[in-house]
Amino acid sequence: MTAPAAARIVVTRRIPEPALELLHGAGEVWLSPHDRPMTTAELHAAIAGADAVVTLLHDRVDDAFLDAAGPSLRVVANVAVGYDNIDVPACTRRGVIATNTPGVLVDATADIAMALILMSTRRLGEAERMVREGGTWSWSMFFMLGTGLQGKTLGIVGLGQIGAATARRARGFGMRIAYAGRRRADAAVEAELDATKLDLDELLATADVVSIHTPLSADTRHLIDARRLALMKPTAHLVNTSRGPVVDEAALAAALRDGTIAGAGLDVFEREPAIEPGLLELENAVLIPHLGSATIETRTAMGVLAAENAAAVLRGDPPPTPIG
Ligand code: GLV
Repeated sequence: MTAPAAARIVVTRRIPEPALELLHGAGEVWLSPHDRPMTTAELHAAIAGADAVVTLLHDRVDDAFLDAAGPSLRVVANVAVGYDNIDVPACTRRGVIATNTPGVLVDATADIAMALILMSTRRLGEAERMVREGGTWSWSMFFMLGTGLQGKTLGIVGLGQIGAATARRARGFGMRIAYAGRRRADAAVEAELDATKLDLDELLATADVVSIHTPLSADTRHLIDARRLALMKPTAHLVNTSRGPVVDEAALAAALRDGTIAGAGLDVFEREPAIEPGLLELENAVLIPHLGSATIETRTAMGVLAAENAAAVLRGDPPPTPIG
C-alpha cells in the first residue's frame, strides 16, 4: 500500500520559525522565497494544488485565488486578526475553512494605541523631529504644551478585545471611557471599565480622544468621514490602529490642517504602504508603519496560532480560531 501523499502547505511569506516547524510536521511546506508580498500572478501560481495556504494580511483571498488553488484547498489560515483581505462567503461556498489569529495580539495592539494617544496629545512626534532637525529650544513655561489625559474621555469605536484592552490602559491614565459600536459590550466589561455606550455621532461630539478598533467591512469603510470629523471637538485627537480605510484619509488630512480636530495618531493607512501626501506635511499627525502587533512575542504567537489552525483542519479537527 502506498502512503497517502503529504498535504501541500503554501506559506505566502516568511513567518516565525516555531510556526514553520509546526507546519513541517503537518505536511510538505512551500515557503515563498520573496520577503515581500507576492504579485497576484506569483501567488496564484504558488497555491495551485495546495491543501492549506497560510496567508498574510496583504494577500487577497477571493474567487480568483480559490480558483487558482483548486479543489484540494481545505484551509486558508490568515496570520492576522483582521480578515478584510478574505472573501469569507466565497471560502464557505467552496467548503474552504478560513481562520484568523484573535486574542494573541490584543495587548501589543492596545499598547500601540496607548502610545499613539500619548504621542498625539503630548506632541511627541513633532518634538522628536524638532530635536533631530537641530531646532533651537530651551525650557520655557509655554514651550510645546500638549494636553493631559486625566479626567478626559476616551471614546472607543468598537469595544471588542483590543478596544477594551486600550480602555483598561487609558483608565490607568485617569481617563473616563465611552464607547460606540453595533453591539452592547458584556455587562461585566461595561462595569469593569465604567463605560457608557453612546451612538457614534454623540461619542465623536463628546470624546477628547477617539480610538478606532472596529474591523473593516463594507459598513465601516469611511465610517469616519468629513461629516463625522466635523462633529469632533477642535481639541480632540483621533487614533486608528484597526484598518486604514475605516477613516477617509483625505478628509482627515483636511481636518488636521484646518484645525477641525487637534491631532491624530495613525498606525494604519488607506492604501498601505502609501500615505496620503497631505498627512505627511502635518506636524499634528503621528504616522507609524502598521506596527500594532509588531513584537517578537506577538508575531511568534500569531504565526503559531495560524499554523495550529492549518494543521488542525488538515488532520480533520476543528481549528482553534475559525472566522465567523
Ligand atoms: C494586524 O493588523 C492584524 O489584523 O492582525
